[in-house]
Amino acid sequence: MLPAGLADAVLRDDDGALDLATLGDLAGRFAAASWLWRPIVRHDQGRRWYTRLLLTGVVEVWLIGWTPGQHTAVHDHGGALGALAVADGAVEEDIHDLSRGSWQGIETRRHTRGHVVGFAADHVHRIINRDGLAATTVHVYSPPELPLRYEPSGAARIPAAAPVPPAVTAATAGAAAL
Ligand SMILES: [Fe+2]
Repeated sequence: MLPAGLADAVLRDDDGALDLATLGDLAGRFAAASWLWRPIVRHDQGRRWYTRLLLTGVVEVWLIGWTPGQHTAVHDHGGALGALAVADGAVEEDIHDLSRGSWQGIETRRHTRGHVVGFAADHVHRIINRDGLAATTVHVYSPPELPLRYEPSGAARIPAAAPVPPAVTAATAGAAAL
């Protein structure tokens, strides 16, 4: 599934980070590999379903199943670069801006099957399935397992000087948001 050059870049145990182009390539290849994720993925109306497909020293790969209406909280990725690829269905991405000290929503983008989008280190967003059908996505992050930060309740109204909320552990945050 992975060409030799990409496999060499990804399957490393030393600490490091991949660039956005490599992350997009990796996410797209996992999303295109329906033989891999289709037998695994679940779409559970009771909770957003996810599992980690790969963890190396330089990257982690997650598979997520979304039923209609399911969404993440607003979050960043602790400074990691990332990429999202839509394997099936469609999701929307509400992008937020932390540059002025608030968590203000600024834009919504729609991502459909086959789309791959990269995230810079300061990217803040939430993902939501606003369609009437289930969706499946692949998310990759590098470096892996950095703690996420979440929008506090009422964050759109917090003053510019308000502190950034404390980080939570990767073990809980990584699984909770993505
Ligand atoms: Fe995310």
